[in-house]
Amino acid sequence: RIYRIASIPGDGIGREVIDAGLQVLRTVSELSNGEIAFEVTEFPWSSHYYLEHGHYVPEGGLEQLAEHDAIYFGAVGGPEVPDHVSLWGLRLAITQPFDQWANIRPVSFLPGVSSPLRKADTTELEWVVVRENSEGEYAGFGGRNLSGRGPGNEVAVQTSLHTEKGCERIIRFAFDLARTRPVTKVSSVTKSNAQQYGMVLWDEVFTRVAKDYPDVETESVLVDAMSAKFVLHPEQLSVVVASNLHADILSDLGSALAGSLGIAASANLNPDRRYPSMFEPVHGSAPDIVGQGIANPIGAVASAALMLEHLGEPAAARAVLAAIDATTGAGILPKDLGGVATTAQVTEALVSALRED
Ligand code: NAI
Ligand code: MG
Repeated sequence: RIYRIASIPGDGIGREVIDAGLQVLRTVSELSNGEIAFEVTEFPWSSHYYLEHGHYVPEGGLEQLAEHDAIYFGAVGGPEVPDHVSLWGLRLAITQPFDQWANIRPVSFLPGVSSPLRKADTTELEWVVVRENSEGEYAGFGGRNLSGRGPGNEVAVQTSLHTEKGCERIIRFAFDLARTRPVTKVSSVTKSNAQQYGMVLWDEVFTRVAKDYPDVETESVLVDAMSAKFVLHPEQLSVVVASNLHADILSDLGSALAGSLGIAASANLNPDRRYPSMFEPVHGSAPDIVGQGIANPIGAVASAALMLEHLGEPAAARAVLAAIDATTGAGILPKDLGGVATTAQVTEALVSALRED
């Protein structure tokens, strides 16, 4: 099969890690004896592009993206553009109209990678953080200058939006995912003691949906307690479902606990498959290390594995994950994982591991 991939490297190290991921995908294709092919179209939408044209996604851009089977995204955000402008201008300008309401972020240990938890001799990590990706705290509702009383007295409001349908679909998604995993458990995260409307609605929907999955173990945990649990009792977690903001924070914590933000993968899924889904490393554009050739490509490559899985190529996805394990297991580690390997050397090792598989 030929898969049409839209690649959007974006800003900063986005280009470096997406190039690595595409090299891995080309190898997957070569090794498939013509079974799997990729037709990659690159879209130059970045903060540079924005400064030149006044927009990230041009008119007709979404229609062009919609013609692809999947979107492979690097990162957006640079020193020249305020972060809320770049995030809403590019990433959210795709996830929202394409109704990519489920963001999944797997977290696990890699061989040869030390982590704060592993030093404490913790058991294996095998989590998936499921993030509500369409509403909640990032719904974009609110306003500035609401007091009308001028400088020094400004009032700003940022409203969270939680719909019953939105809660239900992401919670059901989490339960369905839990059923496919070794530990069939869903942990729901809210802050419903302090936020008495939206988060209470979420809790109620969770309790109701759970009744349809009597075979799945459940728990409801407040987000502050959950952040402690991530560190102290990681072995008690499997699928963790949370709102847009809470899951955003918890998944960065999760990837740091597994070793580094640089290894974390994510998928922005439109589970209804009306629009293409988007695959991206969890990390941002990392302006502090851009151009040094030391960006860790593993998060982007693992995101390509999620893309292969979504496209219906699970064997290829497994081969890519095995190549990552083989590479870190052999001690070929980039700087953020405590090693000395460059982006190019890690990528080269991933490609060789795939060929040897
Ligand atoms: P960041 O993820 O870019 O960097 C945080 C730290 O982790 C930095 O020290 C960086 O060097 C390191 N790091 C991240 N990825 C790495 C990798 N692959 N290899 C080695 N080290 C890595 O987050 P930060 O600094 O908060 O944000 C920088 C820019 O990225 C901002 O403009 C922000 O808005 C944007 N951003 C974009 C995201 C996206 O496009 N989805 C997500 C997060 C941030
Ligand atoms: Mg984040």
